[in-house]
Amino acid sequence: MTLEELVSYARRYGFVYPGSEIYGGLANSWDYGPLGALFTDNIKKLWFKKFVDEKKNCVRLDSPIILNSKVWEASGHLKSFNDPKVDCLNCHNRERADKLVEKASGGTIDADGMKLEEIDAYIKENHVKCPVCGKEDWTPARTFSLMFKTSQGVVEDSASTVYLRPETAQGIYIAFKNVWRSSRQKVPFGIGQCGKAFRNEITPGNFLFRVREFDQLEMEFFCKPGTEEYYFEEYKKDCVNFLKSLGIKDENLTTYDHPKEKLAFYSKGTTDILYKYPWGFDELWGIASRTNYDLTRHQELSGEDLSYLDPETNEKYIPYVVEPSVGVGRLFLAFLLNGYENETLSDGSTREVLHVHPALAPYKAVVLPLMKKLHSDKATEIFNDLSKEFTVSYDETQAIGKRYRRADAIGTPLAITIDDETLNNSTVTVRDRDTMTQDIVKVEDLRDYIRRKIEF
Ligand code: GAP
Repeated sequence: MTLEELVSYARRYGFVYPGSEIYGGLANSWDYGPLGALFTDNIKKLWFKKFVDEKKNCVRLDSPIILNSKVWEASGHLKSFNDPKVDCLNCHNRERADKLVEKASGGTIDADGMKLEEIDAYIKENHVKCPVCGKEDWTPARTFSLMFKTSQGVVEDSASTVYLRPETAQGIYIAFKNVWRSSRQKVPFGIGQCGKAFRNEITPGNFLFRVREFDQLEMEFFCKPGTEEYYFEEYKKDCVNFLKSLGIKDENLTTYDHPKEKLAFYSKGTTDILYKYPWGFDELWGIASRTNYDLTRHQELSGEDLSYLDPETNEKYIPYVVEPSVGVGRLFLAFLLNGYENETLSDGSTREVLHVHPALAPYKAVVLPLMKKLHSDKATEIFNDLSKEFTVSYDETQAIGKRYRRADAIGTPLAITIDDETLNNSTVTVRDRDTMTQDIVKVEDLRDYIRRKIEF
């Protein structure tokens, strides 16, 4: 599936639309439509289930988007959450300078962390042209802050300046002590959070891959110094297993270990899980071993003691942190790309089908009265019962074959047909999206049947 095909599919069925469309849109902003909203909700629920709720030593947090600005001073974001940019003096196109260099070098140069002077020298020596107008007339490279700035309160002055969080992680660090004490957790333990993050990206693009407003799923796992390597390895495995158990194929995944010399001075390692997007392998999920840098910085700037006292050994230390962090939009892209198929059937016809894990599917089942006149009352009764527990859709227009196709195309795993057998014998026919085989199920057993089919 190309990116264009994916965008068109997502729009056609109501997964994703361009944001602010009736006003001509807003670059790189997207609405998750009825199906997209259900799909992303399922992604978040399954992440919480596997990474928080099924672990004895992990709990949740929901911290604000706007935090005290000191947080961003302590974390280093105000000083160094920047990307280098260059502007074309001819057509005013703005480019992320490191990415421009990487592209111009045909991928042979990794420009991450390259100094501004080095970028300028490369662009000059290699006559790098503007990809929009073809001219070679660039401003010198400058740093550009990715932080969205706004003000809070009735007076606009420097004291009221606040920022939209560029990651949810810092909200977790600053609540560490409250969570640890109130939840009676002992190190090692983790705090998981889902929420919006905002980055004023210089070159957003590739549909949902790089946007300025996105949901992050982040886990900060606090452990005793010296044990971080173990948890780093464990989380790498857990993240890959999560993806594979939700159906992501082996050939669509790989990992990339950031070279030691490119890591921040406090980092002990970063591994990215890469997905094979239409433009090639690119970052899906980052797993970082961050030492106790963030807690130490917050302790320094807040003056609050953030060390942990081990109740068994009486040792006092600032915990180390292992952090798996992933964007919901990138997971959404990966599941859609991985699961979409334009399948040719044995009779030569084709069908669009989305093979996603039933637990991820927007609707778990569709209820189909075979004949509207005769079966819609019973079908409505069944819909009303099932929808108390599952997200279920109802479709009574056009021939049954067409209705199956519509359900296949949006990944609905089960299609339940209500016919005379339902009225006379209280049974329904349930068709499986992937195999297209059918089971006869008693109406009273339907909920159990669906529950078993969608289990994760
Ligand atoms: N707290 C760590 C952190 O934020 P990151 O590598 O900058 O690390 C983590 O971001 C994840 O968030 C990425 O792996 C990606 O899945 C997602 N992400 C980052 N920037 C994004 C953007 N502009 N648009 C969509 N997703 C993004």
